[in-house]
Amino acid sequence: MCGIVGYIGPRQAYPILINGLHRLEYRGYDSAGVALLNGNVRVFKRQGKVNDLEDAIKSEDLTGNIGIAHTRWATHGEPNITNAHPHYSPSEKLAIIHNGIIENYSTLKEELINRGYIFQSTTDTEVLIHLIEDIMVNEKVDLVEAVQLALSQVIGAYAIVIISKDHPDLLIAAKKGSPLVIGIGEDEFFIASDATPIVEYTKKVVYLEDEEIAIIERNKELKIKTIKNKDKNPYIQKLELNLTALEKSGYPHFMLKEINEQPNSVHDSMRGRMSLKNGIISLGGIIDYVQKLASANRIIIIGCGTSWHAGLVGEYLFEDLSRTNCEVEYASEFRYRNPVLSENDIVIAISQSGETADTLAALQLAKSKGATILGICNVVGSTIARFTDAGSYTHAGPEIGVASTKAFTAQVTILTMMALMIGHQKGTINKSKYIQYLNELSRIPDKIKEILEKTEEKVLEIAAHFKDSHNFLYLGRGYNYPVALEGALKLKEISYIHAEGYPAAEMKHGPIALIDEEMPVVVIATNRGTYDKVVSNIQEVKARKGKIISIVTEGDTMVRESSDYVIEIPETEEFLVPILATIPLQLLAYHIAVMRGCNVDQPRNLAKSVTVE
Ligand code: AGP
Repeated sequence: MCGIVGYIGPRQAYPILINGLHRLEYRGYDSAGVALLNGNVRVFKRQGKVNDLEDAIKSEDLTGNIGIAHTRWATHGEPNITNAHPHYSPSEKLAIIHNGIIENYSTLKEELINRGYIFQSTTDTEVLIHLIEDIMVNEKVDLVEAVQLALSQVIGAYAIVIISKDHPDLLIAAKKGSPLVIGIGEDEFFIASDATPIVEYTKKVVYLEDEEIAIIERNKELKIKTIKNKDKNPYIQKLELNLTALEKSGYPHFMLKEINEQPNSVHDSMRGRMSLKNGIISLGGIIDYVQKLASANRIIIIGCGTSWHAGLVGEYLFEDLSRTNCEVEYASEFRYRNPVLSENDIVIAISQSGETADTLAALQLAKSKGATILGICNVVGSTIARFTDAGSYTHAGPEIGVASTKAFTAQVTILTMMALMIGHQKGTINKSKYIQYLNELSRIPDKIKEILEKTEEKVLEIAAHFKDSHNFLYLGRGYNYPVALEGALKLKEISYIHAEGYPAAEMKHGPIALIDEEMPVVVIATNRGTYDKVVSNIQEVKARKGKIISIVTEGDTMVRESSDYVIEIPETEEFLVPILATIPLQLLAYHIAVMRGCNVDQPRNLAKSVTVE
């Protein structure tokens, strides 16, 4: 997510803007910029950190009591100085900063190019400020109306702030789908993506609602209109949270914030890539490889840790939905094994950070053997993302907690869309089933929200009961086997309790010797296909006095009878269960770790990105 800061008032804007960007650094970013208005609009921006920007421009004229500033988390276009915000309009009389994704930007850009406009960057943001100025000039309307008319054409999410050379006492802000808050001081206004850059100056804030525009004029009352030009009364609230709490949006840890972001992050991983009306999935980043994927001899998925678990879900997805031969390899094993590869193989690397050394090395090996290499990364412009022939970004937003949560469900969502797209291309999924699957996939964000709302109390009860256990077993079959592995990894890496994930049928080949009354066993028992088998596994554990914690489909009765604790998740297609079933396991690991006093966001011995071998 990008960071936005704006200021208008009697003070020098630059120190307030830069301080605001530092307050937003926790959100993660790859470049930063500032625009000041003092006669002319002057834009200063750099790739890298806010400190790099400060060092680079310290000898510039940074005066002006109105300005905007931005930290960029790249979604469209590589992280570099050209794509950094703020962006100028063609006349350089306007500058804009933006947080969000404009889904129809390429259509808008094409129309503007046809009208003779030239673009410096590959961002959707620059398209928007060109459109605003084009409307203002050609339809002879004022800036506010031009913004209203432009935003009426935009499909997607935005939080924007604009300054204008011709209006030195005016800031315009607007939002839809991305957060924007206005701080009201004494004869001064502050604007930001969240309250962290504002709270040290004022506690009076107004949270803009979707499709609202704020017209912020020096020495005047704040004015709010809708993009349809309807006046709205600003609802002024008093900030209660302190700075630290604000950075986590009020959650005690980044991990819990990111678990709760999953309805949005899974939605964002689909945003602009799926049309229910037309029955289309379109992953732009790999559009040129759909045919190659459909005719591939084999898909090999490589990754580490949680990303490897997502890849294992991918194996079941590709085999089940697109009947493609698929293997999943630990990148660290693959790279040293001298694997047999050919140009008919496609290697897909999954990596949240895009910087994992083993995964990058495995990709380099695959490329050297002639395979096509694709990537599924969360960090735009990361090393792995740039090294692959093509790929899809997960758009989960920065993941700060070391334990990966929203990145995992976003990775699985991308893999699901890939498998559906290839299956549809190959004809292994008929049209009616395809439409049925797309509709169910579109309902997953709401089902995640439902799980988050309904299961936490039960999870807390279970966590309190088992927080002092020394070992856990996680069991699942089919699509739920990777979920069992992921649930075990979540628990062990943040609570330091030893936990193992197993295919449920493997119990009788050894692990059942571990079962006694001290052993909690988490069973993901939602399967339709092998449900009866899972029920038998549960009874085998029960017979040996194991404690059963079951994840079941709403309304389940059979598993409930043999379980000590039951967590229900909504009904969905079997291939979509991994996204839903993982949520309560993330919460269980989180709450046990908190009850054990562990450092949830930075567990001992772990790094967020393992860039060393
Ligand atoms: C997951 O919770 C861990 N933090 C770790 O296993 C992680 O998934 C692994 O290091 C891979 O990282 P990547 O996705 O950034 O490549």
